[in-house]
Amino acid sequence: MENVYPFVTNDGSVGLYNTEYDDIYHSVKGAYSEAWDKFISSAELDYYLSTCNCVRVLDLCYGIGYNSKSLLQKYFDSQKKILKNKKNFFKKNKNQNNSIDTIHSDNILNKNFSKLSVEAVENDKNLVIYSPIFKNFKNYNIASQELSNKEIKKYLAKKIKNNYKFENFINLFILLKIINSDEFKDEFKNLKNNFQDKDFTGYFDTNLCRYMRFLLADRYAPASVGPLAAFVHNIYYHYISTCYKKGLKAFNDADVDIKFNICDAREFVKNANRTYNLIFLDAFTTNKCPCLWTYDFFKELFRLLDDNGRLITYSNAAHVRNAMMMAGFYVGKIYNKNENKFTGTIAVKNKSFIKYPLSEADLSLVRSKAGIVYRDENLDAENDAILLERENNVKNSSLLTSSQALKHGTEVTADV
Ligand SMILES: C[S@@+](CC[C@H](N)C(=O)[O-])C[C@H]1O[C@@H](n2cnc3c(N)ncnc32)[C@H](O)[C@@H]1O
Repeated sequence: MENVYPFVTNDGSVGLYNTEYDDIYHSVKGAYSEAWDKFISSAELDYYLSTCNCVRVLDLCYGIGYNSKSLLQKYFDSQKKILKNKKNFFKKNKNQNNSIDTIHSDNILNKNFSKLSVEAVENDKNLVIYSPIFKNFKNYNIASQELSNKEIKKYLAKKIKNNYKFENFINLFILLKIINSDEFKDEFKNLKNNFQDKDFTGYFDTNLCRYMRFLLADRYAPASVGPLAAFVHNIYYHYISTCYKKGLKAFNDADVDIKFNICDAREFVKNANRTYNLIFLDAFTTNKCPCLWTYDFFKELFRLLDDNGRLITYSNAAHVRNAMMMAGFYVGKIYNKNENKFTGTIAVKNKSFIKYPLSEADLSLVRSKAGIVYRDENLDAENDAILLERENNVKNSSLLTSSQALKHGTEVTADV
């Protein structure tokens, strides 16, 4: 993981910083909270679970997987809810000795689990390999604060926990998927006993690391398992227990799958020929990684999105919104209720899915120089070349600048 450095974000989940891109992978406010607030809260997974036999999801720029993991968490929670409803239904009817009301019972009893199939795309193989072993620092900022009042601590703890939910069995599920995938065979064969990078010491979950070593030793014999007694103790008591059982069950469950594609996201979308209900786009910021924000890239995503699908991203940039609109999408904003502000963009083919349309000011920006899109006709240009071409287009354009456009936009709105 060259050029990549970890830090603890404000909700206790680990975030990363890349010196080459000079960009962070995750919001300092919280890597998990960001995944929930920006991607999962607007994904409407329950809608897809009630309308599709298999919900297909494309996670572009998987990184260390917070978006996919949060979606899996939401999926398993929905499964649990359906099971609970079924159980309650049987209990109620048994107690009341009722003849079952058929329409209601059909709804509850015939509600099967929809499948969930996630395609994760990422060009840094090491991030994917290590993605299941990053730990969560529970109540990190609370422990590090000198708060004398217990009530405040309790209040803060509750508030942070409410921002996201994550159960460790999902890491185990992903770990098993990765270790059993042919994609990573060569890397695992070469992994030495001490596979922990020194920069990451302390950011990995010790038990999951041990378990990874154990699985690797079992399969490729490159790693020693460490003192057996400690291993058995930790694995058994922490993971063979509920978490391990849940992870193994999820792994063996035919209803849920995650597949990893280690490649340039442009290559993946060019060759993909199925449609997706949900597409998450979580690339680095637009001026650091312009190749994943071009009109040409969005045209491919338009082809890949189901008619009732949702493309979700954190970017609010006018040129991104313009590229989406030029590609054929209806475009709206994502409202983050925890922060009480708009923190992203949603692109759809079904206009009725837009809850928060772009405002007149947003549209003014889209029509200004700020809305001039990045181009990458063959989906193979270098980032620098894409930036330079746009810079020239902006220079030579007679459109209003963003500040002129905003001023003009407010005058127009005031006139109406
Ligand atoms: C903002 S981070 C994504 C964070 C991620 N969603 C997570 O939950 O950890 C952007 C990611 O895009 C990856 N990336 C950069 N350029 C890419 C490309 N052309 N194709 C695929 N992945 C790329 C980086 O390695 C990085 O992991």
